[in-house]
This record gives sequence, structure tokens and C-alpha cells, in this order.
Amino acid sequence: MSSLNNKVALVTGGGSGIGRAICEVMAREGASVVVVDFNAEAGQQAANELQQGGCESLFVQADLTRDEQVEAMVSACLERFGRLDCACNNAALSKGRGPIEDFSRDEFEFALEYSLVNTWLSMKYEIAAMRQAGRGAIVNISSNASLKGDPHNTPYATAKGGVNTLTMSSAGELARAGIRLNAVSPGVIRTPGVQKYIDDNPSVEKAMNRASAIGRMGEPEEIAEAVAFLCSDRASFITGQILSVDGGATVKMGG
Ligand SMILES: NC(=O)c1ccc[n+]([C@@H]2O[C@H](COP(=O)([O-])OP(=O)(O)OC[C@H]3O[C@@H](n4cnc5c(N)ncnc54)[C@H](O)[C@@H]3O)[C@@H](O)[C@H]2O)c1
Repeated sequence: MSSLNNKVALVTGGGSGIGRAICEVMAREGASVVVVDFNAEAGQQAANELQQGGCESLFVQADLTRDEQVEAMVSACLERFGRLDCACNNAALSKGRGPIEDFSRDEFEFALEYSLVNTWLSMKYEIAAMRQAGRGAIVNISSNASLKGDPHNTPYATAKGGVNTLTMSSAGELARAGIRLNAVSPGVIRTPGVQKYIDDNPSVEKAMNRASAIGRMGEPEEIAEAVAFLCSDRASFITGQILSVDGGATVKMGG
């Protein structure tokens, strides 16, 4: 039996990269999928392709930093499908790298807003829907940047550290309400954005491959498999965990 049969799943940032792969694996596992993105073209296209593959899907355009749009995203899901069983808060935006003292307040706050506050805001409305049902599973997408830091990318790493704490703290609070919360922490994943960076700077590819113990970058589907598992009832006793899916980058000898 497929692990998400009859479940309704919502995926933020589902129009591109890892989020898109999560939508596809959730659909393959039998879920109906709500694709959320502020990029209407990419999000609608993802939802259309899921639909063509036989998945009941809905695209909702929302900017996850806007309270009323996040509330409307969950309302749209409830209106169409009547419930919300699982949610993956995947969307994040980062821009700019550099010495920590050179970031402006606006840049630091941007990282928090688009990679941490958006996650909390999504959880706020998802949890309200799940509490009513007495069950649910949420997976937040973190980053290995949160685990040991990421020099010259500190605002983003800090925001993702917040995502981990948000996940653990809420998991303890919501366990008795039947809601499980976990995070998946990707290593370097070959998304279109990362591929573009490699195309522009070919010399970085070797180092990206060497960052993992396995010796290569991950594929978006490899993150999606972990998310689908954590959302499924197969993970019924797992909550409050930060799972690195990184080809062993965090246990690599000498690094
Ligand atoms: N690619 C990697 O190597 C890598 C590594 C570690 C962590 N991550 C994390 O994985 C997640 C997905 O990354 P990706 O590389 O697939 O990114 P991506 O840029 O390819 O996709 C992100 C999607 O989210 C959407 N989005 C961003 N902010 C939004 C907002 N406020 N409202 C609505 N939609 C929004 C974008 O339009 C886009 O479609 C992110 O949380 C990222 O931090 C990625």
C-alpha cells in the first residue's frame, strides 16, 4: 500500500527544486497535494503535472511572509479537501553572502523573514487545522548550514538554526495533540539553483561533491523520500527530530 494513501498534503515552495520533488513523491505515495508558491507560473505548472499524473492537486499562490495569504492558503486546502493531514514547509529564500559585519539590518531581517518567520507562520495555520482533526504531521526543511554554521552565509544559517529550535520546541508542545513535527536538513542538493551556480562557477562542483562522505551531491528526490516517510504513519513514533539527509556530510572524516 502507498504510504500516504487518502492523505491531504500541503507543500510550500512546491513550484521548484526540492519542493517540486516533494510534491511528486507525495503524489506517488497516494496523497492529494496542495502546491503553494509565490511563483504562479511554476506552481501552477507543478500542480497541472501532478493532475495529469492522476493526483488530485490544487495550486495556491501565496507569499508565506504575509499573514493573510498564509491563512488563506490553509483555508483553500480545507475548502477543497476538507482537511490537512501533512505539511512540508520547504520554501525559503536567501540572498547575498559576505562577512557578518557587512550585512545590513535589512539583509539580516530578510533572512529571518523568508527562512524562519515564514516557517512559523505556515505552522501557525497548519497546526490550527490539524488540532481540530486531532492529528497531523509537519516536516520543516532546514539546512546543514544550521548545524555547524556556514561562514559568509550567517543570516541564513541563523534562520535555519531557528527552524530547528522551532521544530523541536513545537514537537514537545504538540505531541499529545496528535501532531508530529520533524525537520529534514539537506546537504548540498542538485537543484536548478545549485546547478546554475555550478554552470556559472564550474570550479565549485568538485568541492560540492566532496562535501559529502558518499562523494556526490544529493538529488531533490532523495530529500523528498525522507519527507514522505516522516509524513507517513510509518514514522508514527518519530517527533522532534532533525534528520540530516546529506550523504554523510555531517560525519565525514576530517570535515
Ligand atoms: N538546494 C540545496 O542544496 C539546499 C541545501 C540545504 C537546504 N535547502 C533548503 O531546501 C529548501 C528548498 O530549496 P531549493 O534549493 O529547492 O529552492 P528553490 O529556490 O529551487 O525553490 C524554492 C521555492 O520556494 C518558493 N518560495 C520562496 N520563498 C517563498 C515565499 N515567501 N512564499 C512563497 N513561495 C516562496 C520559490 O518561488 C521557489 O519556487 C529551502 O528551504 C532551502 O533552504 C536547499
